Amino acid sequence: MSTGLQAIGMHKRFGGVHALDDAAISVEPGRVTGLIGRNGSGKTTLFNCITGFIVPDSGSVKVDGRDITGAGPQTIVKAGLSRTFQTPREDARSTVRDAVLCGCYVQSSASFLGALTGLPGARREERRIGLRADALLERFGLAAQAEAPVGTLSMGLVRLVEVARAIASGARYLLLDEPAAGLSAAEQDILSAQIRALASSGVGVLLVEHNFSLVLSMCDRITVLEFGKVLSEGTPEQVARDPGVIEAYLGAVERGDTGSTQ
Ligand SMILES: Nc1ncnc2c1ncn2[C@@H]1O[C@H](COP(=O)(O)OP(=O)(O)OP(=O)(O)O)[C@@H](O)[C@H]1O
Ligand SMILES: [Mg+2]
Repeated sequence: MSTGLQAIGMHKRFGGVHALDDAAISVEPGRVTGLIGRNGSGKTTLFNCITGFIVPDSGSVKVDGRDITGAGPQTIVKAGLSRTFQTPREDARSTVRDAVLCGCYVQSSASFLGALTGLPGARREERRIGLRADALLERFGLAAQAEAPVGTLSMGLVRLVEVARAIASGARYLLLDEPAAGLSAAEQDILSAQIRALASSGVGVLLVEHNFSLVLSMCDRITVLEFGKVLSEGTPEQVARDPGVIEAYLGAVERGDTGSTQ
């Protein structure tokens, strides 16, 4: 049963920097949760602790009631989580279609041996995966670039490829670290529509994003981090009215000093 993704009491120090200081976040199935905060407030560190890329000093991460605290990325992918990176990690030489196919294989029963031996069941599975990848490419407006190497695409399109690959894995929870950075308005529209469609299909989405109006329009709940602590949590309306958020975060947005560094 899907009971959500919860991280509570998260602490992480890097030398003298207390990057997470009792941080917490909750992601419900079928909802989009926004994670915002100034540069250096701990958003990516929280992502990394949840997805097994770094081990928290303390705290607990549960997915659908299962404790995954400190587990490695492979265990966490198997538990139903998928993520993108603030700086995309796609292989520049891979074609767009192959990059998305890679994501499809995570949830596939096809095995390497099966593919080599060409058994009928394996061939059927290969076809099913290929169709799934092609459908995703179509949905993300990437069909025309299917055979292009990822390295030849604009940064905006590379981000869309990364999100399509993360979705291809069929994860129940999707964590997106600044997926809209560098996207054109038209690409942002495609991304927003896909994220909303995923949430409607029951996937829980955690979205780090600096574009506050995009966060307000897309998210059901928002958590605001400040110096590794939760400054505010609630609906977009509650968070946008919170005096602490207005002073610490929205004031900084107006001064232009929250923008992404990457
Ligand atoms: N591997 C690391 N080693 C040392 N310090 C780190 C490391 N990773 C993060 N930090 C520090 O931890 C703090 C939180 O960083 P983090 O990257 O989580 O912030 P962020 O909210 O994602 O920022 P941004 O909006 O710029 O992406 C910062 O002070 C950062 O310099
Ligand atoms: Mg970050």
